[in-house]
Amino acid sequence: MEEGFTLWFTGLSGAGKSTLAELVEERLTQMGRRVELLDGDEIRKNLSQGLGFSKADRDANILRIAFVARLLSRNGVVAITAAISPYRSIRDQARSEISRFVEVFVDCPLEVCEQRDVKGLYKKARSGEIKQFTGISDPYEPPENPEIHLHTELENPQEDVEIIFARLRDLGLLPSDGSGADSAYTSEEEALVSERLKNLGYL
Ligand code: ADX
Repeated sequence: MEEGFTLWFTGLSGAGKSTLAELVEERLTQMGRRVELLDGDEIRKNLSQGLGFSKADRDANILRIAFVARLLSRNGVVAITAAISPYRSIRDQARSEISRFVEVFVDCPLEVCEQRDVKGLYKKARSGEIKQFTGISDPYEPPENPEIHLHTELENPQEDVEIIFARLRDLGLLPSDGSGADSAYTSEEEALVSERLKNLGYL
């Protein structure tokens, strides 16, 4: 069975977590991997229904997501999580509970997220209609040492997906693509090696 892992996206609302998580999910599925996407907005409609946005509720939400991600990834599935997960210590707790944990910091300046305001929530947060809104009236603690650090105001989604996949190959979580770009062998050398292995009866 292929080894699962957890890709843990974190970042402000509107930074691009869900968009990137969906693109990564699609590409992994095309590669034949089993994938499950645990998206913040979706999880709050079922697994975390009834939880609000106090620190205690956000922590409970994240620990539930981590629990499910752990079960999935230890059974060969790639678990992708896309919740704001604003608190460093709870993300680190998730990291300590999950083997093969890859933290992806979807970094984007607050001004840019606010200008995008995809869901119209920043406007409501500014007017006070929504309280405890991350980045406006509630904290976001950026990761100090994420495995992957993206800057979505500078890179386009396709570029970010490339960065993620290259890093996953570097970390040994995905096989090298054989293009030679990330591999110690050129494709000619790779063909030669597999020819020899075939002759020896290994392939
Ligand atoms: S987390 O803090 O517990 O990780 P989560 O990702 O599940 O947050 O939910 C965040 C989503 O809930 C946002 O994308 C937004 O659509 C919505 N939301 C509603 N109220 C808030 C709030 N006060 N702070 C942040 N997000 C909110």
